[in-house]
Amino acid sequence: MNIIDKIKRLKKEKNAVILVHNYQNPEVQDIADFMGDSLGLSRKAAATDADIIIFCGVYFMAETAKILSPQKKVIIPDRQAGCPMADMITAKQLLELKKKYPQAKVLTYVNSPAEVKAESDLCCTSANSVRVVKKAFGPDEEIIFVPDQFLAQYTASQVNRKFIIWQGYCPTHAKIMPQDLKRQKEAHPDAKIMVHPECRPETIALADQALSTSGMIKFAKETTAKEIIVGTEPGMVYPLKKAVPDKTFYPASTATSCPDMKKINLEKLLLALEDLSYEVKIEEKIISKAQASIQKMLDLS
Ligand code: 13P
Ligand code: SF4
Repeated sequence: MNIIDKIKRLKKEKNAVILVHNYQNPEVQDIADFMGDSLGLSRKAAATDADIIIFCGVYFMAETAKILSPQKKVIIPDRQAGCPMADMITAKQLLELKKKYPQAKVLTYVNSPAEVKAESDLCCTSANSVRVVKKAFGPDEEIIFVPDQFLAQYTASQVNRKFIIWQGYCPTHAKIMPQDLKRQKEAHPDAKIMVHPECRPETIALADQALSTSGMIKFAKETTAKEIIVGTEPGMVYPLKKAVPDKTFYPASTATSCPDMKKINLEKLLLALEDLSYEVKIEEKIISKAQASIQKMLDLS
């Protein structure tokens, strides 16, 4: 039996579901039950009736699945698949910031540890940050935004609110420079440009759209443009081509891979199904507090 058949058989036997983020290795994407961005995968995790969630993504995403489905076993095939940006803020640092700005509300990007979500009023993803701010906060309210300074700046540019911004960033998206987009645009003048809002403001300024990864797939399907320059992790070109085979996609830069997103492969996925490790475990009191801030986001978006 080949590895794909083994994974499929075990998945059925154990009533497991395989959730896969859009940046994962192609062979992992091809075996997914559900693909998506952070928002879409959170929704799937909350709604699934499987007993086990195998999460192929990075650790904060598997943690979010556990927070939303605490009665399920949530497994990440490689415990070392983290997100450097999520690790740029701790609960202790957030508590200090809250002390400094006691009047401010805390909006936390899902790319963050569970303990930080537990100290937050509300969470957001790259797909809904603008919408949740408009719905949840009044114009006079101050908002502490952690940990991504670039998503915070992008969100602030779209709404009329006061932001206190933590200086975290994604090392992968921070490497996508305006020159990368300019170079591709010169080579493909008819192409539209879409970028992820984790990019620098000067990079976003050159784009036609700033979108989450699943937002990119939707835009690619709907636009009349036949060519699109893609300013995000270059693995994104694979699901885009699969979803919209008649269009051409050019990664803004191929030097910007997210090494953590590439840690999971079919061998690790099979091992994870065989021995159900690594299991995500979170203290109950953290789960209930973090769940409130994520659930509020799902209700608003
Ligand atoms: P999306 O929610 O847009 O998929 O982004 C997740 C992420 O980690 C981007 O770097
Ligand atoms: Fe984290 Fe950036 Fe990798 Fe996304 S691409 S998982 S934000 S390091």
